Amino acid sequence: FSLKNHNTFGIEAKAKQFIAVHTIDELKKVLKENKNQEKFILGGGSNMLLTKDIDALVIHIDLKGKRIIDEDDDFVWVESQAGETWHEFVLWTIEQDFGGLENMSLIPGNVGTTPVQNIGAYGTEIKDTFVSCDAINIETQEIKTFTHAECNFGYRESIFKNEVKDQYIITSVTYKLTKRNHKINISYGDITAELAKNNITNPNLKDVSNAVIAIRQSKLPDPKELGNSGSFFKNPILLKSDFEKIHQKFPEMKYYDVSETEVKVPAGWLIEQAGFKGKRFGDAGIHKNQALVLVNYGNATGQEILAISKNIQKTVFEKFGIHIEAEVNVI
Ligand code: EPU
Repeated sequence: FSLKNHNTFGIEAKAKQFIAVHTIDELKKVLKENKNQEKFILGGGSNMLLTKDIDALVIHIDLKGKRIIDEDDDFVWVESQAGETWHEFVLWTIEQDFGGLENMSLIPGNVGTTPVQNIGAYGTEIKDTFVSCDAINIETQEIKTFTHAECNFGYRESIFKNEVKDQYIITSVTYKLTKRNHKINISYGDITAELAKNNITNPNLKDVSNAVIAIRQSKLPDPKELGNSGSFFKNPILLKSDFEKIHQKFPEMKYYDVSETEVKVPAGWLIEQAGFKGKRFGDAGIHKNQALVLVNYGNATGQEILAISKNIQKTVFEKFGIHIEAEVNVI
């Protein structure tokens, strides 16, 4: 079974077996019946690089549905099944005038993977509205609810990438959104500039969403047109003391404070300075508008993309002494 249409990089890789599940009962049954089989869980396929065929049963999580589970005067608790497309879900919340997800418009992938890497963009992360998620234990088929605290969220990090990696499948996620007094967050410079272009001074949720969509479309390639997985690397976080030394050598280096003792450096800037922006090697390359994004021009293999990523890491390290870590899951 070809996985080419199931990963946003558009890499050709084969699965030994493939099954899509549409209900929790179906999922439980498949897990039970294939207890001793190697299994590979697939959501939207938007954050992975396939470098080989998958010698396992691929289970595609296609659970659909969303509902309001509670509300008071100010907030609404919305639960979405894991297989809903993230951006469609975000647009639906905006149509209902529910606030909190608008800055994360147009992020590829499904709802179920949003807690795994605590997705974020333009000053907001999933952890800001996340309440809890239900997940099924692959071994026992028991459902466990993970609270916010249990998820151990960090920058593109959670318990699902660490302590319980490969042990659970997220089946639904609950978010707490505002019904009024929306906390419009346009602190990210690009958004203010985009709104100003359209003379919007007092933006509503839809305005913010539209601005984010416009910025993303101008910088980030649409996976339907050009295979990619968003940011391939995480922005490195350095101790201020280490950063100061590097900054002396490269005073034009961009950075943001993340705590009293740490700063974040945009990896896109490092990669661009290392000379990779817009470069193409066969069918694999580095996007021309955003150096953090690796792209597949058609028939690149996962191995080719991986080789470029290693070359980038090596060159950036040699030039700046900074190690950049992949954000995408390399399979
Ligand atoms: N920059 C460059 N050259 C580049 C790209 C960026 O110099 O080729 C500089 C920009 O000039 C800017 C800074 O780097 O000063 C930051 O750039 P940008 O606003 O594009 O954001 P980013 O740090 O590169 C992060 C997230 C994105 C998210 C944006 C906006 C990570 C790994 N990436 O990128 O998330 O959309 O901020 O919030 O944190 C993703 O995770 O897949 C993703 C797209």
